[in-house]
Amino acid sequence: MSQAFDVVVIGAGPGGYIAAIRAAQLGFKVACIDEWKNAAGGPAPGGTCTNVGCIPSKALLQSSEHFEHANHHFADHGISTGKVTMDVAKMVARKDGVVKQNNDGILYLLKKNKVTFFHGRGSFVAAAEGGYQIKVAGAAEEVISGKQVIVATGSNARALPGAEFDEVNVLSNDGALRVGAVPKKLGVIGSGVIGLEIGSVWRRLGAEVVVLEAMPAFLPSADEGVAKEALKVFTKQGLKIELGVKISEIKNGKKGVSVAYTNAKGEAQELAVDKLIVSIGRVANTIGLNPEAVGLQLDERGAIMVDADCRTNLPGVWAVGDVVRGPMLAHKAEEEGVAVAERIAGQHGHVNFNTIPYVIYTSPEIAWVGKTEQQLKAEGVVYKAGQFPFLANGRARALGDTTGFVKIVADATSDEILGVHIIGPQASELIAEAVMAMEFKASAEDIARICHAHPSLSESTKEAALAVDKRTLNF
Ligand code: FAD
Ligand code: NAI
Repeated sequence: MSQAFDVVVIGAGPGGYIAAIRAAQLGFKVACIDEWKNAAGGPAPGGTCTNVGCIPSKALLQSSEHFEHANHHFADHGISTGKVTMDVAKMVARKDGVVKQNNDGILYLLKKNKVTFFHGRGSFVAAAEGGYQIKVAGAAEEVISGKQVIVATGSNARALPGAEFDEVNVLSNDGALRVGAVPKKLGVIGSGVIGLEIGSVWRRLGAEVVVLEAMPAFLPSADEGVAKEALKVFTKQGLKIELGVKISEIKNGKKGVSVAYTNAKGEAQELAVDKLIVSIGRVANTIGLNPEAVGLQLDERGAIMVDADCRTNLPGVWAVGDVVRGPMLAHKAEEEGVAVAERIAGQHGHVNFNTIPYVIYTSPEIAWVGKTEQQLKAEGVVYKAGQFPFLANGRARALGDTTGFVKIVADATSDEILGVHIIGPQASELIAEAVMAMEFKASAEDIARICHAHPSLSESTKEAALAVDKRTLNF
């Protein structure tokens, strides 16, 4: 007799495991299937985010930032350290430890919420009366059934044609997070989020990093002012960023990788590197899911087709996170997972795509929510913008980190905040206030009238709000 569940979730990344927990909280009998294996072959729930994404990248960013501070900034505080060295193996082992804590934490949470966890690959077998049969292929094989199915199978790194990932020389995010020694010269294709974050890690540790980007503009989805400042700062830090390139050939040899490309002027160039990270975006993952068995519709890019509420073309089958349209972000996947579980329970789950924050964990950090100035111009919206530099913020001066600014854009008539754009220290934390403000449809004046602690970086947000009305107090 196969086990029968109310809800079967396929994938235990942030979309899947959060959906499973929320569904269990709502009283359903829930199964969650995930195939990720740790080094010992055991379960490692948490998906890309926990195993080869958000969490390990932030662990390495933190370690490399400590190294950078010890080498270049401690002396400003009167601290002398002598020669600072980096044990890359230890740094990577620490990162692996952080990942394991998160894997274990998720297993604990699933258990605590009485979600039955299956370690193996889940695939559709057939539609059954009142639901679907799902095969779980792990150490053993079994078929379970679910009245409702939530697919949260995530995404994989996109490879460049002719340059398959060997994870030794040509690296996806996976290999890039477990390089065993600092490469002398590191190439990165794509100056998106992964390229900048992981490129920064190895640059701080001493690698010469060259980033090749196809687009003529740097970070085109960020606010133009932020992107301009970021390019200036990253270049000063030593990242070599070439825009408008066209990659023609990649040769992976014993001694490293050579990249043939034409630069923005159309001149043929050759770049020889020890390691090459290819970070040119990600593709939705439905490998092994067997969507054909039940007629689950995919779009032309291989993502599962869903409506605004994450409903697929099949009754009772939902899909969330990286495997569907929208930004590939862990918190977006989580919000969709919660909303779907609530919809299954007959509630009104809701995800506000206008208030999803975007963060790039470089130094300085970059974070934004809402519309950029260039978007508002293109849409013909009449707006006011206010900007405040961290240079004029007392806490930033005390921290010794005054790069960047906070910018607020607000509707010229109603003063409603339409976007907030930050480049600077702790931008990832500061953006939360902006998200909250926009979620409550706050005006710039609302933020300007709120008492912010002194001295704090968040005073820059208040000052940017005052700047919208041309009345900053400290600049
Ligand atoms: P995933 O996390 O990819 O999880 C899918 C899970 O499903 C995996 O465990 C997989 O093994 C499993 N699976 C797939 N198919 C099957 C099957 N048939 N049967 C069983 N199991 C299956 N986002 C942020 O918001 N902040 C960040 O700082 C951030 N940093 C990132 C850094 C890097 C280097 C990368 C690569 C990504 C980063 N992301 C970040 C993006 C984030 O990781 C993803 O948006 C997020 O993991 C998507 O969650 P998901 O649940 O949709 O899919
Ligand atoms: P990305 O979409 O951020 O950037 C890819 C870059 O590669 C773009 O600038 C694109 O123009 C460029 N590119 C594409 N094809 C190219 C080519 N042939 N030659 C040269 N350049 C080319 O994708 P990335 O960095 O791979 O990250 C994948 C996803 O992971 C992102 O969608 C992001 O949402 C998520 N992520 C989020 C993080 C965060 O929230 N802090 C951190 C890391 C990843």
